Amino acid sequence: LVLVIDFGGQYNQLIARRVRECHVYCEVIPYTQATAAEIQKRHPIGIIFTGGPNSVYEEGAPKIEREVFSLGIPVLGICYGAQLMAHVLGGTVKTAETREYGKTNTFFTPDCKLFSGLPQEAITWMSHTDYIAALPEGFRSTAHTADCPVAAMDCAEKNLYAMQYHPEVLHTENGTAMLKNFLYEVCGVSGDWTMGNYAQRAIEEIRTRVGDGKVLLALSGGVDSSVAAALLAKAVGSQLTCIFVDHGLMRKNEGDEVEAAFSKWDINFVRVNAQERFLSRLAGVNEPEKKRKIIGEEFIRVFEDEAKKIGRVDFLAQGTIYPDVIESGAGDAAVIKSHHNVGGLPDYVDFKEIIEPLRLLFKDEVRALGTELGLADYLVWRQPFPGPGLAIRILGEITAEKVAILQDADYIFREEVANAHLDRDIHQYFAVLTNMRSVGVMGDERTYDYTLALRGVTTTDFMTADFARIPYDLLQKVSSRIINEVGSINRIVYDITSKPPATIEWE
Ligand code: XMP
Repeated sequence: LVLVIDFGGQYNQLIARRVRECHVYCEVIPYTQATAAEIQKRHPIGIIFTGGPNSVYEEGAPKIEREVFSLGIPVLGICYGAQLMAHVLGGTVKTAETREYGKTNTFFTPDCKLFSGLPQEAITWMSHTDYIAALPEGFRSTAHTADCPVAAMDCAEKNLYAMQYHPEVLHTENGTAMLKNFLYEVCGVSGDWTMGNYAQRAIEEIRTRVGDGKVLLALSGGVDSSVAAALLAKAVGSQLTCIFVDHGLMRKNEGDEVEAAFSKWDINFVRVNAQERFLSRLAGVNEPEKKRKIIGEEFIRVFEDEAKKIGRVDFLAQGTIYPDVIESGAGDAAVIKSHHNVGGLPDYVDFKEIIEPLRLLFKDEVRALGTELGLADYLVWRQPFPGPGLAIRILGEITAEKVAILQDADYIFREEVANAHLDRDIHQYFAVLTNMRSVGVMGDERTYDYTLALRGVTTTDFMTADFARIPYDLLQKVSSRIINEVGSINRIVYDITSKPPATIEWE
């Protein structure tokens, strides 16, 4: 185990991901929990301090106990973490006259273990105003830039290392190799953390925890709940009940695909076909927030009706993943979520404990685990899909007919993107049925039909996004297939706004 101690930096999750990419298991804990005693209890083989927005010399800035440096555990400080190391150990940190930001030419001392085997000059990614003005006793500077005399430092004898720049950011050349040097050369890790042995361990832990108890999971067909279901199924088999509420607002064939994937396993799989129930509650409703609310409430009701049939369960399983855990734990860097998955289930179901089998995994690791457990690619690589489903991609009132039109059009779009092998490059892409009709001509006939919008975005975090530069030829093919094959659509537009100012979904 390597402990990543979070000081509120924007790249903290990235550090953890890089460490795991080096096949080393790590966990992120907020600095408030990182007392020397707590760290010692967990027996990490290395510690990494993240960056953070504060100045170490400010009143109330995040601190760390001096004893942490004398536990005999190697420490790597990054950015704020580097300054904190210098400050706590008796060096000086000051505000610089010029802020260093962005790609910066950096020169390295080759005999520092972090840089062994790497070029002596490279670009690093800097983002700091404070700098280490005087080294603590026993330290030497191991890298510098034009403006920064201590771009890295070490005290090899005590296994203490620090970098002012961000090795976790891809703009830093050889950044991952430097982290790897810290892990392999300094901490001496064996690097045997793989998804295969993680899965094995997770299955055993779930078995021990659940015993002969009953587990209930709301399966949405999304990546997280599907992988959680697969893991629980492997661990406790028939003690698991999955309730799949099909609100009839999924993409074309999706409900059947989910059923086909899970109904063959030795678990209790319950599919509730509730399209009519949802559509009748949505009839005549135009307002987006109202639609969301109705769907959320109805979802809970349907789930509750099914859960009642099962009675008391011991565990309610949830597909929470690591980024949510880190965000809610760090406090300082908390992000307010604007979207929640349909539900709020725990209040309504009779259960003893929550079990979150994916709570230590990042999204890409969840996918890797899904593949490891034998889930099909179409489940593992599913794009994000909003809980209220197509209801927020049909602008205005929702009817069964509109759902069918949109499902067909969206299916063609997705099929063509996949045929062009762009399905993993465009992070989310879908069709939207606008509420607008316009005049067209087909054969010799005047038409008055719907306008369909296509949306494709590239993004890393879905908080901001750019519209995808889909080749015109592909758009043309999609357009003519949709017009010819779907009906009721006579005009197709492509959304060329980024987020902000637009959002990814239209409602
Ligand atoms: P927006 O439209 O806000 O969407 O740019 C950002 C991401 O969130 C997804 N999304 C939702 N997911 N329930 C969800 O579970 C929702 O109500 C919801 N609304 C939007 C959207 O698909 C995109 O990936």
